[in-house]
Amino acid sequence: MSASKKGLALGDLIQSIEPSPTLSITALAGSLKAAGHDIISFSAGQPDFDTPDHIKEAAKAALDAGKTKYEPVVGVKVLRDAVAKLYTERGLKDLSAANVVISTGAKHSLYGCTQVLLDPGDECIIPAPYWVTYPAQVLLARATPVFVGSTEDNGFKMTAADFRAAITPRTRMLILNSPNNPTGAVYTRAELEAIADVCLEHQIAVLWDSIYDELIYGGLEMLEFATLRPGLQDLTITVNGLSKSHAMTGWRLGYLVAPPAVADAVSKLQSQSTSNATSITQWAALAALQGDQEPTRAMKVHFDRRRKLMVELLRAIPGVTCAEPMGAFYTFPNLSAHLGKTGPDGVIADDNALCNHLLKNCGVATVPGSAFGAPGNVRLSYATDDDSIRAGLARIAEGLAALK
Ligand SMILES: Cc1ncc(COP(=O)(O)O)c(C=O)c1O
Repeated sequence: MSASKKGLALGDLIQSIEPSPTLSITALAGSLKAAGHDIISFSAGQPDFDTPDHIKEAAKAALDAGKTKYEPVVGVKVLRDAVAKLYTERGLKDLSAANVVISTGAKHSLYGCTQVLLDPGDECIIPAPYWVTYPAQVLLARATPVFVGSTEDNGFKMTAADFRAAITPRTRMLILNSPNNPTGAVYTRAELEAIADVCLEHQIAVLWDSIYDELIYGGLEMLEFATLRPGLQDLTITVNGLSKSHAMTGWRLGYLVAPPAVADAVSKLQSQSTSNATSITQWAALAALQGDQEPTRAMKVHFDRRRKLMVELLRAIPGVTCAEPMGAFYTFPNLSAHLGKTGPDGVIADDNALCNHLLKNCGVATVPGSAFGAPGNVRLSYATDDDSIRAGLARIAEGLAALK
């Protein structure tokens, strides 16, 4: 306890954490819109589709059946069985419900893993660009995030050589996200195998966040990190959920697949913090996993078309480059050629100023790349309709051309 703090003064740890910038920009765009401003938002981190009807029906049936009580902390058995079956089909070995913990969203699953595996002083390697939450969660475990950069030229993917070079005696964990938020990068089998070999050699735990795995384009394969090499499953925690694949962001349902000792530790943490994920949501999740997957396939077709449209329009803007995203629903163009120019509010010193200019003067909400460890880039979500993509990109082109 700090002797100098009195009353409701906040603790040091929480004060060292930034609130999620993506959520705040989405909220700002929403409030500008509500106040009557004409805003096109490319900041969304969620599908613009509604949850499929059969999933909603399952939730209604659960309510009517009185499934409104406490459930086991780790989730209802049938749902854990369904997750174990899914990952057995995907090539993981000897799975049962004991390997699965259901949580209130993949973010919560990731939080549980960082809390139970990391100690103060441990280092966790995070390839950049990264999802904003990873460094914050590592810091919340009082551990140290170590970033390994990548470039647009190599498709924003960390190489095994760069990974190896970042390892120290304190390295404990690697967080890998494929398809990636914000870049849309999807690792190939060979790239992952090279990274896997380094993990095995140094016995580094891997947090494999595959929340966008149903959204992979261009015929690239969906891969399970845990299956790539013998012994790798003992080092890997697979985190996934239904938010993106089944348009269920608000339902809050994520899960992890891990060796039982890790699952038990996360269960212990949840037992003293959140208890079970919402009971009704779990029955909806069961319907999502076991029911018709056509809505997911249909969503992917729309996303793929919008992806191509957005990339084409971005590449047509002078001073903008854009690596082809192969998964998720984001593009991550590089706009650094426009930094240092002057707009209506003064010099555009960095990507934050650029996104402010685009929001304030052009009515387009985007997320600055610096939030993801990539200053000079900007994240645009194409989880919106084609007309908005066309209109929004025309505004961006105009807004950039206006800079002198
Ligand atoms: C890479 C990544 N992982 C995890 C999550 C969390 O998903 P959930 O809504 O299930 O907590 C997100 C959400 O934006 C994400 O982008």
